[in-house]
Amino acid sequence: MDVVARYESLVPDFDAFLEALHRPLPTTVRVNRIRTTPERVLRAFGEAGIRATQRDWNPWVLEIGTDKPGNTWPYLHGWIHGQEEISTLPPLVLDPDPGEVIWAAAAAPGGKATQLAALMDDTGLVIANDDNLGRISALRANGDRLGVTTMAVTNQDARNYSFDPLGIDEVDHALVDAPCTCEGTVRKSPDALDGAGPEASANLAGVQRDILERAVRATRPGGTVVYSTCTFAPEENEGVVDAVRARTGARVVDFDVALVSEPGIEEWAGATYDSSLRKSRRFYPHQNDTGGFYVAKLEVPT
Ligand SMILES: C[S@@+](CC[C@H](N)C(=O)[O-])C[C@H]1O[C@@H](n2cnc3c(N)ncnc32)[C@H](O)[C@@H]1O
Repeated sequence: MDVVARYESLVPDFDAFLEALHRPLPTTVRVNRIRTTPERVLRAFGEAGIRATQRDWNPWVLEIGTDKPGNTWPYLHGWIHGQEEISTLPPLVLDPDPGEVIWAAAAAPGGKATQLAALMDDTGLVIANDDNLGRISALRANGDRLGVTTMAVTNQDARNYSFDPLGIDEVDHALVDAPCTCEGTVRKSPDALDGAGPEASANLAGVQRDILERAVRATRPGGTVVYSTCTFAPEENEGVVDAVRARTGARVVDFDVALVSEPGIEEWAGATYDSSLRKSRRFYPHQNDTGGFYVAKLEVPT
């Protein structure tokens, strides 16, 4: 827990934060609206004798009374996807309209890319990319199981992604769910903090900046780019978004979410960030009984 000690000045009720990091995470699934409804899934779990309850803030997320959702019939039918509650947030913040073209720059194994397709009622196009070939099969398999017919899977380094093979000049929106130090996943993976820390964050920040800049430049004027990580490190969060904002002229904008959150910060370890970074949001585990997350929404200038 030494890694998170440096966040004491940032996190409200730091003792409760530390205590939450030691508690196991509730098991949650996202209901796949391409195939079914929450009511139908609740009925199926009820008939199987498995407890399932809807989340107040998002009825498409269910907490379930088994830690193996992948062994259930609703999973095999593609009615649900095992997805952490807080990780359903970035696609909701992106809030696509049916028929739009979206680039998911770092998409495997596909929880958020398939959610984006579902939010568009499986219309339009989700370009789901990941540079790790070993993770591409899971991305494809999840798309198939969930009945997504509008997802194109690609395997490129997002930093210098080429849309030429797809014949596309620009996308309506992009999601950068960035590779990160994953500090916020420690409730699920107790060794998540091994190897994390300021040095690891500084190393990742360069890749994160380059992917986010590519996403902003690929998005049409007036389009939206959502940046998310599952880490607390400001170097990987506000630091990255602020650098790309300054380089590209993209604006950090507000978004509504019915979960407790803290504003992004304006200074950290001698660095200062633009005041608009307060419009990004930090989600701490003790505030909503979730993993840790960071989300920023950027608008591309017209
Ligand atoms: C947080 S995970 C993505 C999770 C995914 N968005 C989901 O919802 O299932 C980050 C991903 O970034 C990928 N990645 C790392 N560096 C990359 C790069 N330069 N270009 C594209 N993908 C990259 C990793 O392989 C990993 O799958």
